[in-house]
Amino acid sequence: MTISADELREEVRRHYAESARAVIAGTSGCGCGGGSCCEAEDAGTFGEALYDAEQRDELPDAAALASLGCGNPTAVADLHEGETVLDLGSGGGIDVILSAKRVGPAGLVYGLDMTDDMLALARRNAEEAGVKNAIFLKGMIEQVPLPAATVDVVISNCVINLSTDKAAVLTEIGRVLKPGGRVGVSDVVAEDRLPHQERAERGSYVGCIAGALSKSEYEAGLEAAGFEDVTVSFTHEVADGMHGAIVKAVKAHEPGKEGLPLVAERT
Ligand SMILES: C[S@@+](CC[C@H](N)C(=O)[O-])C[C@H]1O[C@@H](n2cnc3c(N)ncnc32)[C@H](O)[C@@H]1O
Repeated sequence: MTISADELREEVRRHYAESARAVIAGTSGCGCGGGSCCEAEDAGTFGEALYDAEQRDELPDAAALASLGCGNPTAVADLHEGETVLDLGSGGGIDVILSAKRVGPAGLVYGLDMTDDMLALARRNAEEAGVKNAIFLKGMIEQVPLPAATVDVVISNCVINLSTDKAAVLTEIGRVLKPGGRVGVSDVVAEDRLPHQERAERGSYVGCIAGALSKSEYEAGLEAAGFEDVTVSFTHEVADGMHGAIVKAVKAHEPGKEGLPLVAERT
């Protein structure tokens, strides 16, 4: 039986809504991971174990407990004071809270998520962390509810693999970023040798495995969406031939708009 993209998205939403409710109830949420929920998180390949002790100290317990990612995008995104950051699939808000502290009161961080229970958990965690420069938006990462060229840095932690339309996500990242804006994403990525069928045999879609792009698919997708300096670097194996990875890229400047006048000024 084949499952439609809409049904798959609803399955993802249900899974993460359940996870958020579990955290709110005081138990650990199930997120990305192999066939059996939370197994991989226990092994330290997903979740809060990927953050250092100093970062975990900056977070309310519920935000750390709600961490369902496969990396630590705030460690690679090189955020600066005053920047505007967008976190795609912000979940319980862990990377939004850490980013908000990095960009300071002159900066702003948007967390975007499609799941109401996750948004409620994230807002509660951000409030508990005393974060004032974060806004959580409800919406789809395939259709970002922000105007074009308004964001300096897009981060995301183990979400793009869950999208049923990854080309749309990469196009949207390119649309909302300012020219020269950066991408610093953690995601599950497959080795190029694994066809889709073999990726699906290694874990579930909602567990962030079956829907993963391969390294060269990711690179080609970002280049097609207008990015430069694209790198996809494996950090740790999460299943045979499947890795937590850091994905970095820069949005190309439009020709003629790099700060140089197109026409020589008259003297
Ligand atoms: C694996 S969790 C990661 C959460 C968070 N980034 C973290 O590191 O803890 C995936 C999150 O992405 C959200 N999500 C999945 N697909 C989405 C989509 N297409 N649009 C918006 N949010 C999505 C889910 O609701 C969930 O909160």
